[in-house]
Parts: sequence; C-alpha cells; structure tokens
Amino acid sequence: MRAFNYYAPTQVVFGPEAEVQTGVLVKKYGGTKVLVHYGGKSAERSGLLDVVCKSLEAEGIAYVKLGGVVPNPRVSLVRKGIELCRQEGVDFLLAVGGGSVIDSLKAISIGVPYDGDVWDFYIRKAATTTCLPLGCVLTIPAAGSEMSDGSVITNDEGGLKKDYCINEFRCKFAVMNPVRTYTLPAWQTACGAVDMIMHTQERYFSKDDDMEVTDAIAEAVMRTAMDSVHIVLEEPENYRHRAQLMWAGSLAHNDLTGCGTSGDWATHCLEHELSGMFDVSHGAGLAALWGSWARYVLAENPTRFARFAVNVLGVTNNFKDTNETALAGIKKMEDFYRSIGMPISIHELIGREITDAEIEEMADKCSNYGASTVGCLKVLSREDMVKIYQMAK
Ligand code: NZQ
Ligand code: ZN
Repeated sequence: MRAFNYYAPTQVVFGPEAEVQTGVLVKKYGGTKVLVHYGGKSAERSGLLDVVCKSLEAEGIAYVKLGGVVPNPRVSLVRKGIELCRQEGVDFLLAVGGGSVIDSLKAISIGVPYDGDVWDFYIRKAATTTCLPLGCVLTIPAAGSEMSDGSVITNDEGGLKKDYCINEFRCKFAVMNPVRTYTLPAWQTACGAVDMIMHTQERYFSKDDDMEVTDAIAEAVMRTAMDSVHIVLEEPENYRHRAQLMWAGSLAHNDLTGCGTSGDWATHCLEHELSGMFDVSHGAGLAALWGSWARYVLAENPTRFARFAVNVLGVTNNFKDTNETALAGIKKMEDFYRSIGMPISIHELIGREITDAEIEEMADKCSNYGASTVGCLKVLSREDMVKIYQMAK
C-alpha cells in the first residue's frame, strides 16, 4: 500500500429537505455576503433556488445571484463572477447545481483575490492557495466536485479545457438531497453514473495491488452505481437508488478510493480534449473512450483487469487465461454503457466520423504539443494518444 495523505474536510448534510439548512451552514462557516451561483434553468424551475435563498434570508445573510453556468463551464462567466464579487464585497461562495456550477464557483474563488487573469492558474502561469470559502447544494451526482480538490474550466477562445487542483477548493459543506435529483433527464443521469464509475476506475487501474480495503470499497462503489443507475432510469423517483447514486458519486471522487494507489487518469485527460473541442457531456465522452483505452493498456496489468471483470461485472473467471477474462470484462463494461444509452465510440458521441486532423489536434493539446505524457498504468505519449483516439474512432 502506497503512502497517502487523505484529506476530506467537507461537511456533508444528506437527506430529504437538506437544502433548508443551507443558511445555517453558510453562517457556521462565516459567510455574511454570499454569491449564489447556478446554471441554466433547472434550479430555478424546480424551486430549489428559492428555497436556498429563503434559508439565507432566514439567517439574515445578504446575497447576490449569478446564473447562466453551462456544462463545460466557461472562463468568460467566471470573469464576470469575479467582478461581481469584488463590487458586492462577497465573502462566501455558494453553488446550487452540478459539477459545472461548482467548478465555475471554484474558479471565481481564486480569481477574486488575484490581480491577474484567472485563466493563468489553469495554464500553470500562476499558482495559489488563496481563495474565498465555498459551499454547495448539489443537484446531480456525477463530477464529484462537491468534495474534490479540482475545478475544470473551458476557455471560450480555442476550446481549451483545463483543470486546476488545490485542497483549498474543497467545499466547507455539501448539501445533498436525493429528491432534488428526480428531475434529472435520463441522459444526465447516465452521464453522471459513468463519471463516478470512471473516477473509481481511474484510481483502481494501477500497477499497485496491495490495497485490499481500498479495492473492496472501489468495487462496491462501482457495483452500486451500476445497479442503481439501471433502477433510476426505469423509476426516476426511486429515493433509495437516487440516494445510493448520490453518495456513490461523492465517495468516488473524495479520494477515498485512491488511498494507497497511484491512479491513472489518462481517460480523463483524453476526454477533456473531446469535451473541449466538441462540447459533449463529460460522462458520455468517457464512455466513448474507455474501452479503447482499456484494450490499449491491458498488457500492463491483465490480472487487475481480470479481477475487475470478476468482482465488479460478475464475469466467470477463466483461470487458464487471464487475458480472456480481462477482455470479457472490458466487453461487458461496454455492454453496460450501451444499456444505459451511452456511446462507446467517438462517432456515436459526436454523430459523425472524426477526422484525422481533429485527432492530431486533440493529441497535440493533450500532450502539450508532445512535451508531456498522461497516465500511470501505462504512460501515454502523444503517439499513444493518437492510437487510442484512432481505436475509439
Ligand atoms: O444548467 P441546468 O439547467 O442546471 O442543467 C444542468 C446541466 O444542463 C442539468 N442539471 C443539473 N442538475 C439537475 C439538472 N437538470 C435537472 N434536474 C437537476 N437536478 O444537468 C446538466 C449537466 O450539469 P453539469 O453540472 O454540467 O454536470 P456534471 O456534474 O456532470 O459536471 C460536469 C463538469 O464537471 C467537470 C466536467 O469536466 C464537466 O465540465 N468535472 C469536474 C471534476 C471536479 N471538479 O472534480 C471532475 C470530473 O472528472 C469532471 O472533469
Ligand atoms: Zn470525471
């Protein structure tokens, strides 16, 4: 088991009507003037935004609102948020939404105290640990941003999607009411399930294999997400399974399933180029790539892929041929993606053949024009990236 430093300071308030506690939580963490940040229409339409604002008013907390965050959140709105917070003297930031809203909020939180342009952090031109405190009311189990240290932002110019990760980005609190996820469309529900499964897989597929307790938790998170997503796609208002998915999403990305493993993250890096270039849903992009990545790197640790096939997907172990078991697992995982309406190739994802020039451009961006690699189970060069995109075509 590798040495690790597990830090998950977020207070989680989970259950029916949890959102009415938002004002009390903001007060507890010192907020007196709040930016309430949200997305398109869902939080307004469902009445959640009103409930949250009323809970702030009940505690005598002033607030300003900024909506309009889109999936693959844009740096242009982040810049507006930074200006608004400065003008209004905001001292606490609250997201009401999903990963995109929370990530946009995190970017605002480091932009407010910074003199330069916030994009500097995402392109590694600047670094910081100074930010305004954050909290969130989560509406979609998916990205895990409610407990993670990451923020992923897209630059409107050039379709560059980049992350920035610091422990200071971890929310002071996360309010999670599974009932508020009943309104999620099937597509978003499925994308969310893929993302949480992938967050677990990125940590699970490593060369390490001496972290039994971490593996057992990871396998349970993946099995639960797979079982529950099937049920909620049939029964959107099934509380029990909406709740399982919601908690699985947080556990998948609060680093619990990474304790003692090295992690890989190549599929995520490859996917960020797809959603940066084609503005597709992150979860769907991951599903489109995973099988190709898995087949490409399988030889690095076939036993681990075979273990995944048996323990997570219920493939019958063929002790004579580890590779055969592992390959059956990869195929079964793709069958699962198909069964929840996800694409398993790039052309299914974007609705047309991707061109070789587009693949070269994504590999350029993903490898910083050949200067860097991604992945850990197998370290991927620019050439490897092109091969995987070609396999996933
Ligand atoms: O904008 P609204 O109207 O709210 O609609 C949203 C959006 O269109 C809708 N939605 C959310 N909650 C809803 C709802 N619709 C009905 N009822 C509800 N309760 O869902 C759509 C997708 O929302 P979004 O926030 O984009 O989804 P998600 O949570 O999957 O976030 C995706 C973003 O997170 C990044 C991704 O790259 C992507 O940009 N990630 C962030 C990570 C992190 N910060 O740690 C890690 C991830 O790997 C990921 O990269
Ligand atoms: Zn993800």
